[in-house]
Amino acid sequence: MNSSTTQKLDIHKVASSRIGEVDFNNLTFGSTFTDHMFECDYKDGKWQNPTIKPYGPLTISPAAKVFHYGQAVFEGMKAYKDENGNVWLFRPEENFKRINKSSTRMAIPEFTEDLFFEALTKLVKMDKDWVKPGLGNSLYIRPFVIATQVGVSASPSTEYKFMILMSPAQAYYTGDVRVEIAEHYSRSANGGVGAAKAAGNYGAQFFPTNLARERGFQQVIWTDASDHKYLEEAGTMNVFFRVNDTLLTAPISDRILDGVTRKSVIALAKRDNITVEERPVMVSEIVEAAKDGSLKEIFGAGTAAVISPVSAFSYKETIFELEKQENGFASRFKKELMDIQYNRSEDPFGWRYEV
Ligand code: COI
Repeated sequence: MNSSTTQKLDIHKVASSRIGEVDFNNLTFGSTFTDHMFECDYKDGKWQNPTIKPYGPLTISPAAKVFHYGQAVFEGMKAYKDENGNVWLFRPEENFKRINKSSTRMAIPEFTEDLFFEALTKLVKMDKDWVKPGLGNSLYIRPFVIATQVGVSASPSTEYKFMILMSPAQAYYTGDVRVEIAEHYSRSANGGVGAAKAAGNYGAQFFPTNLARERGFQQVIWTDASDHKYLEEAGTMNVFFRVNDTLLTAPISDRILDGVTRKSVIALAKRDNITVEERPVMVSEIVEAAKDGSLKEIFGAGTAAVISPVSAFSYKETIFELEKQENGFASRFKKELMDIQYNRSEDPFGWRYEV
């Protein structure tokens, strides 16, 4: 259910901006935040007191349900600045729909569309100087919802906080991405929360990803939880395999995140008459394709990471190195996507949203 609010968005501006303290050429992803944030509380069955205020700490009871049961969902989106100083979002309605879908799965009330867009656009406008021009620079936007009701009984919270934070960003992955195919741990299971951007989905990956890191891999390609036969997602991204000139990716299901970058890559590929197969992709077929040379590329697709080529993967202790493709699908889709995002090309799909 969409619980509406009739209240007006309150705005409190900072007395002085912190922007002068930031070294925009040396940003660590997601660790610097802009001057303002958005906050709105759910109480008595409705969203209320929507406010844009100076970025700063919250006071929340240690008994709030989010700390005990992880009732929390989030989104990742970006704002881009073009050469004329105009600021753009990329398919924000997709993020709006998905945060509500994630919320529903986590028994959190849906947020309202009008307020989401009003808060988002006002916030981005207020902090637009934090969006630096230049390909690769962006403002990473993090809407999220947490359960704030006090009480450790294991039941859905009756109170929530919806917030939006913004963080100036450069590349998420720098250098090669080497991945390990999961043979033991899993990210999600049938009927689980894999399709939701639930906070715990990411926390649960940290331990197996640390183990992979110790072995020299930055990310894990998750496989199905039943018998680890099918390739599903890569770390924080959806994953694509190019076998000869066909693009393969796992189909959307209740185990797979319906990624905005994923669906954009599929649309671009189809437009360019590239065959795309959204179907279960077997580990064995990719290993065979790597052996016979028909596996040309693997790349991840996600908002934070954009398109990240995988340079090697390991499976059952064998490492398969992939040849760097200067003009491959990954670099082509990355360029086509970024040209749209940064208003450097036509927008035939209507994906850009001017702030
Ligand atoms: C995103 O691409 O927005 C993500 O969800 C990645 C994030 C966990 C850093």
